[in-house]
Amino acid sequence: MKFGHFDDEHREYVIETPKTPLPWINYLGSKEFFTLISNTCGGYTFYKDAKLLRLTRYRYNDVPMDINGKYFYIKDGDTVWNPGWKPTQTDLDEYECRHGIGYSKFKGVKNGVRADVLTFVPVNDNCEVSKLVVTNDSSVEKNISIFSYVEWCLWNADDDSRNFQRNFSTGEVEVKGSAIYHKTEYRERRNHYAVYSVNAPIAAFDTARDSFLGLYHYAGNPEAVLNGKLTNSMASGWSPIAAHQLDVTLKPGESKSYVFVLGYIENPVEDKWEAHNVINKKPAEALLAKYDTDAKVDAAFAELNDQWDKLLNIYTVDSSNDKVNRMVNIWNQYQCMVTFNMSRSASYYESGIGRGMGFRDSCQDLLGFVHLIPDRARERIIDIASTQFEDGRAYHQYQPLTKKGNSDIGSGFGDDPLWLIAGTSAYIRETGDATILDEMVPFDNDASVAQTLMEHLRRSFGYVDTHRGPHRLPLIGRADWNDCLNLNCHSTQPGESFQTFGPSEGPVAESVFIGGMFVKYGNEYADLCDLKGLTDEAAKVRASVAEMNEILLDSNAGWDGEWFVRAYDSYGNKVGSKECEEGKIYIEPQGFCVLAGVGKESGQAQKALDSVKQHLDTKYGVMILQPAYTVYHEELGEVSSYPPGYKENAGIFCHNNPWVSIAETVIGRGDRAFEVYKKTCPAYTEEISEIHRTEPYIYCQMVAGADAKFHGEGKNSWLTGTAAWTFVNISQYILGVYPTLKGLSVDPCVPADFGDFSVKRIYRGVEYDITVKQNGAQKGVKELIVDGAKIDGTVIPYDASKKTVKVEVVMG
Ligand code: GLC
Ligand code: GLC
Repeated sequence: MKFGHFDDEHREYVIETPKTPLPWINYLGSKEFFTLISNTCGGYTFYKDAKLLRLTRYRYNDVPMDINGKYFYIKDGDTVWNPGWKPTQTDLDEYECRHGIGYSKFKGVKNGVRADVLTFVPVNDNCEVSKLVVTNDSSVEKNISIFSYVEWCLWNADDDSRNFQRNFSTGEVEVKGSAIYHKTEYRERRNHYAVYSVNAPIAAFDTARDSFLGLYHYAGNPEAVLNGKLTNSMASGWSPIAAHQLDVTLKPGESKSYVFVLGYIENPVEDKWEAHNVINKKPAEALLAKYDTDAKVDAAFAELNDQWDKLLNIYTVDSSNDKVNRMVNIWNQYQCMVTFNMSRSASYYESGIGRGMGFRDSCQDLLGFVHLIPDRARERIIDIASTQFEDGRAYHQYQPLTKKGNSDIGSGFGDDPLWLIAGTSAYIRETGDATILDEMVPFDNDASVAQTLMEHLRRSFGYVDTHRGPHRLPLIGRADWNDCLNLNCHSTQPGESFQTFGPSEGPVAESVFIGGMFVKYGNEYADLCDLKGLTDEAAKVRASVAEMNEILLDSNAGWDGEWFVRAYDSYGNKVGSKECEEGKIYIEPQGFCVLAGVGKESGQAQKALDSVKQHLDTKYGVMILQPAYTVYHEELGEVSSYPPGYKENAGIFCHNNPWVSIAETVIGRGDRAFEVYKKTCPAYTEEISEIHRTEPYIYCQMVAGADAKFHGEGKNSWLTGTAAWTFVNISQYILGVYPTLKGLSVDPCVPADFGDFSVKRIYRGVEYDITVKQNGAQKGVKELIVDGAKIDGTVIPYDASKKTVKVEVVMG
């Protein structure tokens, strides 16, 4: 069942009912000012950091769900309604929400009055703009009142939700004309405030929540709105808000338009005030003046759309499969940009007050956006590498504001160092900019011990190479990619963090998965050594990789007979083996070892993937492990703490499904690669939105596995490495346009009935127009013709002197 439809021409998802299974949200903003906005106008806004500089208040896990946001109320006689349905939930005659790329549109119609809202964050200003157009579609004159409402957050969202003994006394505002200023704590150590304004004279306002809502009322039935008259209240402590009242007369057929701006302003410390305790409003007034007419707003909206046109023009596909086209050309890349901006910080499931940026998360996110914004990817790589320790280990997380490693969680996750190679290699393959390797980068943010980025990568590889266990496999430490495989933790008390309790490293627990990563990224590191002319080092690295390859395939180490072992626990026992009672097979080493090419010649790769299909596959995707753990295993950690079928305990973790799909392309099985791709792909799961529940235009982190009560139900949408990996999978492996150090390679692996297709790719400033004749083949390039000339192999040598290159590929 669907609750809307895709409008590909406008790059929008059109939601046809406010009653979606969960709030379906969008992200506005692409630099420093961000808004989360749901299909019923719920959500919140922050500047740079969702914890420390939150502008508006949101209550997570509230009931009814998703009840705080930025609302417009329309009072028409005795009827009060909202264009986005919430919070009054008055039945609408018509409702529509269009989530677009960096903007959202709402349409509500009630009793002959139509309200259209467009909300977006302009490209270059720290504000959110909402254009509200009210139209009288009836045949009688309408006298209506429009009310706006936002609830201020007292900046630090964590403190705001806990420290009431202080917070109920600190709220302060100013009002000037139609502009309502939120200035809590500005009198002391803050030099920033927020403003909410409308470009028309107002009939009244409220800034005290109690006056607006009334005692025993809530946002669904604000007393002042029901009375049709705001009270001009001035907040003093308690909860400051901003609400405007506009009294509007509309003749039949008439429309009126209003622009609301919510802005964030910082003043120089020496220029904070214009009079005693009166804030300096000059910059706010300048900002409001930039958006005080429809024409200015329309121009800013056009600028936003132009920016996205340019970005989404870098990789486009034209195939006979609409679903693939829309995911590749629009939504998958959009989600990659959102994960770049947010990492795992603020969504409807990440509260914005928790962890900062993940070391491994951010390195992987990079794989999905490096082609869109290579300069910012470069900066991100340097930021991440700057948190690395001198011995090659890495902080597991770092703070976006300070860019420093987070010592609460610390280090010791065995996979982290190798992800830095993954991100850097992707950047250089995309841009050809090897100078990044010569960049001097601090260790643990200490500039006095800076070394080149190349040296950082050397230590990444070296750390894993020299930290091996009894089977010569890499030590797992606190965990590897699977944060919940905590083999050294041995926690028995509730409340102990699986990720920080116990010794961070033991000399015995090993990870086969990291072994697969070692092969994949060891090879990429060796290529970078060659690029730098370090042939001896490259040879040594390749020798280590070859040795690891043998270990992985050895039935006394990485190989279990029908699939790869997952790990060895701290007692030296196998995890993910036929010898285990539960958790006999895990997805991660099958996907990652095979995508690294391990076992391709020996046939073990195919065996492992066949086992995945046999033991882990479901109609909703491939599960992380089977059989699910039904009891808690102290020697395994968090993985066995979840009820069967959820999260890392046999859930369908969308992030590693593309590893399996990519692995299938490596052994040339296009049908199966695409089957795996389809199962978690939003454009396909749209059809089962009532089961899947999360947004049908973007990926979620996890879908409940076969053991779960709600098998097929998605959770934790938006901020997941799934976005980057599925884009890598579909764009580079299935459609097969893969950036190498020497140039673009074209080597598709598609289902037999996929048909011919074309890809346009802007790469290092050159436009490649690629057409593929499939001939029913799943893999194999029979002919590669570049600007009319046949060439050998699959790599188009990069030639900067060309503007466009015409590429014809014949498969077979
Ligand atoms: C979450 C984490 C990620 C981890 C994954 C599996 O998505 O953000 O770092 O790899 O879970 O545990
Ligand atoms: C929890 C989540 C897991 C995440 C980890 C790290 O364990 O289940 O997905 O990776 O936290 O924060």
